[in-house]
Amino acid sequence: MKEIIVSGMRSTGKLHLGHYLGVIQNWVQLQDKYDCYFFVADWHALTTKYDKTDDLRQNILDVVMDWLACGIDPKKSVIYVQSLIPEIAELNIYLGMITPQNWVERDPCLKDMAKILKTKEGQGQQINYGLMGYPVLMSADIMMFNANCVPVGSDQVAHIEITRDISRRFNNIYGEEFFHEAKPLLNNCSLICGLDGNKMGKSFNNDIKISDSAEVTAKKVMSAITDRSRLRKDDPGHPDECEVAFKYWTIFGEEEEIQTVKCECEKGLRGCAQCKRQLGEKINARLSEIRERRRYYEQNPQEVERIIEEGSAKARAKAQEILKEVRRLVKMY
Ligand code: TRP
Repeated sequence: MKEIIVSGMRSTGKLHLGHYLGVIQNWVQLQDKYDCYFFVADWHALTTKYDKTDDLRQNILDVVMDWLACGIDPKKSVIYVQSLIPEIAELNIYLGMITPQNWVERDPCLKDMAKILKTKEGQGQQINYGLMGYPVLMSADIMMFNANCVPVGSDQVAHIEITRDISRRFNNIYGEEFFHEAKPLLNNCSLICGLDGNKMGKSFNNDIKISDSAEVTAKKVMSAITDRSRLRKDDPGHPDECEVAFKYWTIFGEEEEIQTVKCECEKGLRGCAQCKRQLGEKINARLSEIRERRRYYEQNPQEVERIIEEGSAKARAKAQEILKEVRRLVKMY
């Protein structure tokens, strides 16, 4: 029997290269080795965007289209939407009962969010009850399928640790080694920064979307920051201080190519504009098949909806089995 993997992403809409390189690529490879459950966390999106739900449905479709385009295969993996599995909400209740308040309070992601909310930008808001429960709900996501492993970015590891603590506590209280202690599965790829050198993010306006056209991508790459100390194109460059463009080369170029770029830059034989034009072509070549597949799904949204419905039905059947055991262990009526 294969080990079980669960992982999800919030329904933030169209995904960017950070998602692709940091998470999705890893998922694609895991599909053959594990029983994979991949889901769109629409409830988690509501923890902060409860008042911006007009695009919720489209955002979910966009996330799933990006996954399919990148090679998540509904024949191998179960693809579903969190809120279509109400069993997760019930499990969330049981887990909430056994989770001490200070376990959620010490969650570093929540602490950060609380800080942001309190600032002017966050309009001095308080954390709502649902956001407080973010790590518990995430534990319910993972434990709903009794996952062994959770492939995530390093920012999510603290959450997986809480999940492990909650599993252990459940097993202790209800007297059976029922839940596995899920392990995070990190991938070793280097993080891609945004076009401005900061963390790539939708809200920072510095991302390249998986769904961007080749033209838009080429234009965005031209705006990427390079070696700030370089004024003329035949000045000797410093690839190691080139904040974005050369870093992208190391991600998208082949070994030999990277050496050529480095060498030519250092000798002043390669201007930044020319360099970024080539880089844009490189990135576009890498993404062209993915984008073609995405266009196919954009033109056939009913196929995407069918994949979500079928995946959610499969996930739900499995969730019902686990929930039955949980109710038995907790001794519910
Ligand atoms: N918190 C994750 C994120 O922000 C999304 C998520 C929700 C998740 N539930 C999960 C990831 C369960 C892995 C497993 O990206």
